[in-house]
Amino acid sequence: HRHLLGIAGLQPWEILFLLQEAGQWVDLNRKSSKHASRLEGLTVINAFFENSTRTLLSFEIAGKRMGADVVNMHAAHSSVKKGETLIDTAVTLNAMRADAIVIRHASSGAVSLIADKVDCPVLNAGDGSHEHPTQALLDALTIQRRKGDISGLTVTICGDIMHSRVARSNIYCLTTLGARVRVCAPPALLPAALDQMNVETFTDFNAALDGTDVVMMLRLQNERMSGDFIPSPREYHHLYGLTRDRLALAGEDALVMHPGPMNRGVEISSDVADDADRSAITEQVEMGVAVRMACLDVLTRRSRKVEGWS
Ligand code: CP
Repeated sequence: HRHLLGIAGLQPWEILFLLQEAGQWVDLNRKSSKHASRLEGLTVINAFFENSTRTLLSFEIAGKRMGADVVNMHAAHSSVKKGETLIDTAVTLNAMRADAIVIRHASSGAVSLIADKVDCPVLNAGDGSHEHPTQALLDALTIQRRKGDISGLTVTICGDIMHSRVARSNIYCLTTLGARVRVCAPPALLPAALDQMNVETFTDFNAALDGTDVVMMLRLQNERMSGDFIPSPREYHHLYGLTRDRLALAGEDALVMHPGPMNRGVEISSDVADDADRSAITEQVEMGVAVRMACLDVLTRRSRKVEGWS
């Protein structure tokens, strides 16, 4: 693949290869000196048309740790605000001869549109409610390191499934790797497309938790809701919040995950989020840097003329 636009369509061996590559970078990232030279001389552009803390900073750190020149374009400070179109922006970035472009955009499909217009690899950093592939990869790496083989695990994803690119990419990734995936949400936040996605659906969170190995909590994405269904935080927490009592319904040692940003006291209580034994939330962030290093490295191998990547 020239680009990383989504997890859909990747083979199990391709996902496992990226996770293996990322594992090597975790060790470097834990050293006091974190510099590698693999991407020396390359230019990476992070073009973010939507807000981000984790994804933007970890892509920037990932590129810099491997020696690339990294520049960030925030749409709010760019000529997008003067009316420049997405395609014209893409052509402009391409003319600067970037070696990789990382894009986040609020519209599903926008990243793929840009990928068709540029000469370098494009990495999807989240497009609308479509996909967020590096998030799914970092989640898989976190699960693998805590639980071992992902095949055969039961993973419950609870929250705003309808609007979540994280849920979609994780469903593709985890089912491709042989996990049993349960999704749980209020009926209005369960998309019809789940029927074709090889998952079990639940509206009762307590039932979904029974015997699960991993609980992945998601934020209500109010910014993607049209006002027809925005639950009150208090009511949502009562029915779908992960509390200490509720976590006891899951399997013994069930791992708690959240991609961030969290809304504490809504989808997850602070005592669960901050429980160092059960919660892998900060580890997910750490794995994010390693995964993004692996993705930038692997996708630029062809242009770097690495043997075997013609
Ligand atoms: N998980 C995630 O994508 O976080 P950011 O929106 O902060 O990048």
